[in-house]
Amino acid sequence: RTDPDSAIPDNVTLAQLREAAARCRACPLWRPATQTVFGEGPARARIMLIGEQPGDQEDRSGRPFVGPAGQLLDRALAEAGVARQAVYLTNAVKHFKFERRGKRRLHARANAAEQAACRRWLDAELRRLRPRQIVCLGAMAAQAVFGRAFRLLRERGAWRELPDGAMAFATVHPAYLLRLRDPAEREAAYAAFVRDLRLLRHA
Ligand code: URA
Repeated sequence: RTDPDSAIPDNVTLAQLREAAARCRACPLWRPATQTVFGEGPARARIMLIGEQPGDQEDRSGRPFVGPAGQLLDRALAEAGVARQAVYLTNAVKHFKFERRGKRRLHARANAAEQAACRRWLDAELRRLRPRQIVCLGAMAAQAVFGRAFRLLRERGAWRELPDGAMAFATVHPAYLLRLRDPAEREAAYAAFVRDLRLLRHA
């Protein structure tokens, strides 16, 4: 059992963090979920991408960004010239939250208490990896990194320096692109997303 108030020591490996997060009981989301979906990628990655929370397929596979949003992200990263294998991918919240509708499990947004409870794992990943560049995908990730006052529409695509010297910006979440129905609107929003990701190459 993880004590909700316990600090996570600095001198642990990513594998040890993952192992500890697998047993986290700091909020109730662990119970209905299949498993903790911890971050994934090289321990020496210079770039970290932070999503919101795992979806249905991530919950089943235990890996971040493997479902439809992840596939769109892969495509966008490739178009932006960023290799997914060189990036550490994680989420602000590490359990799938859902409501049951018959056989289906519908995505539900983690609340403020659940986001706060999961914060220790993101902080530990940031301390362990010390990425030089961070991209927040969506408002939940952006507010975890920049604070609750952050407004995505106003500040997307703008680099900011964090206290440890890392550079970070926020952009939209790929799942938002998947929800756009109008093809022209979706195409334009996707192009803007790829443009934002290209910032990683020109920093
Ligand atoms: N959306 C996210 O924010 N994270 C995932 O891992 C999958 C979908």
